[in-house]
Amino acid sequence: MASVTSLSDNVQQHLASALSATLPEAAGADPLLRRSDRADFQANGILALAKKAKANPRELAAQVVSQVVTGDVIEDVEVSGPGFLNITIADKAITGNLAARYADETGRLGVPYAEQPGTTVIDYAQPNVAKEMHVGHLRSAVIGDSVVQLLEFTGENVVRRHHIGDWGTQFGMLIQYLDEHPHELDHKDARVTGEEAMSNLDRLYKAARNKFDSDEEFKTRARRRVVDLQAGDEHTLAMWQRFVDESKIYFFSVFEKLDMEIRDADIVGESGYNDMLAETCRLLEESGVAVRSEGALCVFFDDIKGPDGNPVPLIVQKSDGGYGYAATDLSAIRDRVFNLKANTLLYVVDARQALHFRMVFETARRAGWLNDDVTAVQLAFGTVLGKDGKPFKTREGETVRLVDLLDEAIDRASAVVREKAQDLSEEEIAERGAQVGIGAVKYADLSTSANRDYKFDLDQMVSLNGDTSVYLQYAYARIQSILRKAGEVSPAAHPELALADAERALGLHLDSFAETVREAAAEYAPHKLAAYLYQVASLYTTFYDKCPVLRAETPAQVENRLFLCDVTARTLHRGMALLGIRTPEKL
Ligand code: ARG
Repeated sequence: MASVTSLSDNVQQHLASALSATLPEAAGADPLLRRSDRADFQANGILALAKKAKANPRELAAQVVSQVVTGDVIEDVEVSGPGFLNITIADKAITGNLAARYADETGRLGVPYAEQPGTTVIDYAQPNVAKEMHVGHLRSAVIGDSVVQLLEFTGENVVRRHHIGDWGTQFGMLIQYLDEHPHELDHKDARVTGEEAMSNLDRLYKAARNKFDSDEEFKTRARRRVVDLQAGDEHTLAMWQRFVDESKIYFFSVFEKLDMEIRDADIVGESGYNDMLAETCRLLEESGVAVRSEGALCVFFDDIKGPDGNPVPLIVQKSDGGYGYAATDLSAIRDRVFNLKANTLLYVVDARQALHFRMVFETARRAGWLNDDVTAVQLAFGTVLGKDGKPFKTREGETVRLVDLLDEAIDRASAVVREKAQDLSEEEIAERGAQVGIGAVKYADLSTSANRDYKFDLDQMVSLNGDTSVYLQYAYARIQSILRKAGEVSPAAHPELALADAERALGLHLDSFAETVREAAAEYAPHKLAAYLYQVASLYTTFYDKCPVLRAETPAQVENRLFLCDVTARTLHRGMALLGIRTPEKL
């Protein structure tokens, strides 16, 4: 199935040819088309063109109008205000275009693939080994997963990288402790749950920390372990691997609860770049990008200074020879650019790491690893706040465990589902509860633009009214129920039928799905898709209130309305999937 030209692209073409027929020098000019309350579309570009050509804008607009071909697509066009064009789309074009999207068997709704896809390496969902996941990790995972879906849908070649924190001095302490208490990570059962794995790690972490803080000799042994680990000592590495493996059991259980596919092969943590670190430093030092300062290898920036006015460098290698977070990230850039052949490096990471990435990216540019053709972007996200507007913490002031939050969301959602459920079994309620609860958490995160903070408010998130995933899921389920009730009667497009206002509004909005996806993918902005889908559901609600479907006046109208219902459902289903959210058939 070929892609379907959207009505707005189509109108754009009509206007562009009318413009160049009127004013040859205006060929290629943008008519500045947008959706409008007063007409289906409004074009505002003539004002600027008239100014340039020293013409009267209303007269120029009138000339353009006389050149516009009306009929199949544009029903009517008239001049309004100082020289705007108000455009009305023919009903048959609205229905006809939706019918073309509907006929797309691939389920893409006629959305085209990018003409020149590139390769994007996306760094997201990067928890830390031997540590509990918290709300910050939720955002990276949820936003990252949606951006992956959006980019892949547009045809981009996407490489996923989960840059987990699996390296660092804290492993000296952990490994040493495990070596002295070798059975601490043993399992009774072959099947270990994520909860068990995390509680093992947590217990071990606390015990090791205690010993480290209270026992000087242990501290010395732990420090020696760090050296062994960095030197690649086999036994030490094997112990370290046990921590990584135990943590992965936990990570995978959380990602499964999040209903998110994370592949083992895409987990390339900090340790994955170990054998590149020395060379990264050598390249930076030889090219003069980094310099030795008090023994450390540093990169300086004119515009980055600390509170005391002194420059703050990016430290690539510490004076004791150790490598840190920056060296790893710089090596990862080399890997992603030269081995994975990325054009774009995308980092879905907390805004509080913005300075780190600014320095890392600028260093990579100076080294020539990044340039105009290979760029890096941090998709920085804001903080999750509690209801009090402060960073989300437990009553005791501790960071909230992600699993606890998810479980609570699922509980609340299950209660909502149970209350509304008509013919659902207990098992179905549990399954839908999880889909609704996880959807609610994801949607709340994705419906505000990533860089903003948002309040984690479960009451609001599982509300049936308002801008929530539950509202969208109910709209979808309601449509499915209508389609089931229709029984023998199948949805079918009837472009010859005149449309009611609510049908036109819904139809026109459904038609702009492709543009929305294109924009959301290009700007890494899932919130634009979320806003679009909410609008779909709202327009559907109005349509449903105003236009009887199964009891419409004629059989053709019943079919056409069922068809509108089905296109709406497919759009919701596809759009929600791009946000990583399920749309249950029954709720
Ligand atoms: N593990 C880090 C954290 O929990 C995030 C890693 C971000 N990615 C990167 N390439 N530095 O904060």
